[in-house]
Amino acid sequence: MSDFQTHASILEATGQKQLCQRERFEKVRTLVHSSSESACRGLAAEVASLIRGRAAAGETTVLGLATGSTPVPFYRELIRLHQEEGLSFESVTTFNLDEYYGLPRDHPESYFRFMCDQLFDHVDLDPARIHLPDGTVAMEAVYDHCLDYERRIVEAGGLDLQILGIGRTGHIGFNEPGSAADSITRMITLDRVTRQDAAADFMGVANVPRSAITMGVGTILEAKRLVLMAWGANKASIVREAVEGRVTDQISASFLQHHGNATFLVDEAAASSLTRFRFPWLVGPVEWDAPMKKRAVVWLARKLGKPILKLVDEDYNENGAGGLLASTSEAAYEVNIDIFNRVQHTITGWPGGKPGTDDSRRPERSEPFPKRILVLSPEPADALIGMGGTLSRLCEQGHEVKLVFQTSGNLRVADVAALNFARVVIEMAETSQSPEWESQTAYARSIVKAIDAKGEFGTDPDFVRKLKGLILRGEARDATSACHLRYHDNHFLDLPFYEIGRYRRFRFEEADAAAVGAILGQFQPHSIYATGDASDPSSPQAIAFRAFTAAWASLAGSAFQADSRVWLYRGRDRPFEAHEIDMAVPMSPDQLEEKTESIRRFMSINEEDLNAPARNREIAATYDALGMAEYEAIEAFRRWSPV
Ligand code: GLP
Repeated sequence: MSDFQTHASILEATGQKQLCQRERFEKVRTLVHSSSESACRGLAAEVASLIRGRAAAGETTVLGLATGSTPVPFYRELIRLHQEEGLSFESVTTFNLDEYYGLPRDHPESYFRFMCDQLFDHVDLDPARIHLPDGTVAMEAVYDHCLDYERRIVEAGGLDLQILGIGRTGHIGFNEPGSAADSITRMITLDRVTRQDAAADFMGVANVPRSAITMGVGTILEAKRLVLMAWGANKASIVREAVEGRVTDQISASFLQHHGNATFLVDEAAASSLTRFRFPWLVGPVEWDAPMKKRAVVWLARKLGKPILKLVDEDYNENGAGGLLASTSEAAYEVNIDIFNRVQHTITGWPGGKPGTDDSRRPERSEPFPKRILVLSPEPADALIGMGGTLSRLCEQGHEVKLVFQTSGNLRVADVAALNFARVVIEMAETSQSPEWESQTAYARSIVKAIDAKGEFGTDPDFVRKLKGLILRGEARDATSACHLRYHDNHFLDLPFYEIGRYRRFRFEEADAAAVGAILGQFQPHSIYATGDASDPSSPQAIAFRAFTAAWASLAGSAFQADSRVWLYRGRDRPFEAHEIDMAVPMSPDQLEEKTESIRRFMSINEEDLNAPARNREIAATYDALGMAEYEAIEAFRRWSPV
């Protein structure tokens, strides 16, 4: 048993829990689970017992439901309970939080359709007891429609339990910043960030509706019980603000603090910014192992705006990190030098290892050289966004680099790209006037026809998705050639989960792991680069990583694995914090420019992706502030090993 565990259990045994109140900054009950699946199993069990208990007493249950990727695993578990354990929804009435304004119910992105796909079509709910706001009511009828929605909730006996997700603006339902605590069901204009987050679902931000009808904050707070779910590191900072910050109409989820029976149900990644996880030394005793020391010292230096080597004993004591010094016989001076060196040793211009040198303090081994290096890019642009500079260096330093694009990314390609291609073919055929072009012309016309037929919001048939995927392949090859990768070192896997899925609803399939496993087994890489698992669990990045970890596990015991290192990079996700970095690869201004240029070669790139070089600059600025050398930019990596 560690000192910390001993200490905690002594406190517990003597009833002195107040001394280790790790949750003391949290103003609403927050339960942290190891994964979204386990959290959803617990919640579904609670809901099942609510439904069964009330049904046994002859009462109905009124559930408030939510959409988005977050509740998907919860709905899957409810379906399982229905199919395998006989849970009946006959006594259940449902009210959904919201609906996009202007979308008919059969639109693939309407919340009505979403709910049918994810839950309603798979359980024995009575369709007459299902309620969602109607996005097609005429503008002049919206007000009455909203009042009617409120009335129906009251007539049903009020919401017994309301499920919630949280948007990046902190919204619940679609209650964007500025929504009052007593607001009721109404029409709302969507925030820019919310529309951007929905852009991939709608194949471009321009297609995302501008408004929605949503239950109000007041409507939600009337529910007898509230459960807000959040998964993934992308939700971590807004979860912290809602749970630990002050109650404000700028973050409608913060109003849950005023509800007597509200719970935040989060996974470890979404909880990672809460004080008890981020700065555990501020809320109780901690085990001062090497990673914890690095984290605290880096935090202290950043907080005080001082380089590590200038921290003094008082800085530690006066800022809640005195426990670190007390835990060793060392003074700040020695601790500083130790941490300074550890940060310093993460920096290397030789991400594949520097041949013929002492590598005891380098992040990567010098031998073997050159190495076989496998880079996994979940969507085509991810590897360039996260590690374009490092990719370039690995190629230039002579390693055998294979870049594997795990998904086709075809859902991100705009219609106009496919139309342009088709029109070129048609025009080419017209100019050449040769009968040899007939079949190509027919194909190109079918593309134009399919895109016209699906209208603004429809889904692409498979052959259009295929073409879009090929267009993206071209862009990817072009982008990687700017990073010195050879044409045939690009490898396209087109993982099945992506081809059969949609954003917010992707689902891991065994075939995905098999495809990644085949590449690993064949290539036997010495180093592997992959994006981490911290993002939203239904994102292509998270599922692509799961495909990798499952493949890795299936290859356990193979000879190459023992000699292989896995590095995580961050593409579209939250960047690593300085203390999390195990390898920092600096970039010169020219190298950064080259990376920016390669990212721009993707036509489907958005504003945030183009910000990647700015994030690389920020990491360099942080290292500079900690007292390291001043670089233009840095790409950061974290070593991974299976738990
Ligand atoms: C939309 C929905 C919210 C949902 C949010 C987050 O804005 N109206 O109810 O919580 O998206 O979506 P996701 O769960 O996909 O992160």
